[in-house]
Amino acid sequence: MQGKVLITGAAGFIGFHLARRMLAEGWQVTGLDGMTAYYDPKLKEARLSILQTDRGFQFEQAMIEEEGRLTALAARLRPDVIIHLAAQAGVRYSIEAPRSYVQSNLIGTHEVLEAARAYPPRHLMMASTSSAYGANTEMPYAETHKATHPMSFYAATKIANEAMGHSYAHLFGLPVTMFRFFTVYGPWGRPDMALFKFTKAILNGEPIDVYNHGDMKRDFTYVDDLIEGILRLTGTPPGETPVGQMDSLSPVAPFRVVNIGNGAPVPLTDFIAAIETATGRPALRNLLPMQPGDVPATWADARLIEALVGRLPHTDIQTGVTRFVDWYRGWNGS
Ligand SMILES: NC(=O)c1ccc[n+]([C@@H]2O[C@H](COP(=O)([O-])OP(=O)(O)OC[C@H]3O[C@@H](n4cnc5c(N)ncnc54)[C@H](O)[C@@H]3O)[C@@H](O)[C@H]2O)c1
Repeated sequence: MQGKVLITGAAGFIGFHLARRMLAEGWQVTGLDGMTAYYDPKLKEARLSILQTDRGFQFEQAMIEEEGRLTALAARLRPDVIIHLAAQAGVRYSIEAPRSYVQSNLIGTHEVLEAARAYPPRHLMMASTSSAYGANTEMPYAETHKATHPMSFYAATKIANEAMGHSYAHLFGLPVTMFRFFTVYGPWGRPDMALFKFTKAILNGEPIDVYNHGDMKRDFTYVDDLIEGILRLTGTPPGETPVGQMDSLSPVAPFRVVNIGNGAPVPLTDFIAAIETATGRPALRNLLPMQPGDVPATWADARLIEALVGRLPHTDIQTGVTRFVDWYRGWNGS
């Protein structure tokens, strides 16, 4: 399946990789991004300048919460698919600046829904997060488990996005898929995430902050593997029949929630060891207690996505971390 796609957050980490891959597959891509200053906009500009070398790419700089802006863009483009990734991300920053999460994630996502209601795409796909599982302790996290106990305001806004998506799917017959991403990493990654911060500190001989005294596990998902999952799901809008007992398909609307994760949690200590190997330098550890808003472990149940689109590639942690470190050295000029 090819056609016209509108990607919000296209200058962001995941949006950039997705846009690049879809352009390579022959899609006409319109990317929208507000180029926010949550982290260094130079990284966003550098990603964007790569996308702009492709003639199939158009860019629109705008904030999604601007009333009517996305609807006007959809009227002009009539996209076949909308992939909504723009958001105020980050668990920790949502303690400091909750209002920006209301603006981008609640008001902004509502604008996306309004645009899709006015000019319905074949498939609307929106980013949620593994943080939606919140205080759940049953592992692996399955889409049929409840997601009612968020541990951060970030997670609360994403759970709200899922509920908002469901209501529009039901009321207006819009096919909506919500992705729950699990700790995505890889080249061009986010400076506020552990891999970037740890690599930078280790290469500078500075200590790294290790929370919960290192007793953490994350289902790290390599970005190319995640993009493959998104791309395959693009052509698989929610229909009427569940694919099995594990399906989260709504009983009343063309709506489903899908985990995209590696399905194999990695202890933080192994993750740090992979960075030490890739950089060739030892990490100095600053052991700290658990941070508010955080959870000690995440683990994706990958049965639903596999039933929908088949088995995805699973890049191992050492390979993925080494690719990031190689990119980081070039980006940082070191
Ligand atoms: N990276 C992960 O591990 C991860 C995990 C779970 C969920 N997610 C979700 O995936 C999506 C993409 O994440 P990412 O890691 O690429 O983050 P990112 O911050 O790199 O990308 C988001 C992009 O959206 C833009 N943006 C933010 N607010 C905006 C607004 N109001 N209007 C217009 N543009 C705006 C930013 O400028 C940025 O370029 C987000 O919805 C995030 O919550 C990411």
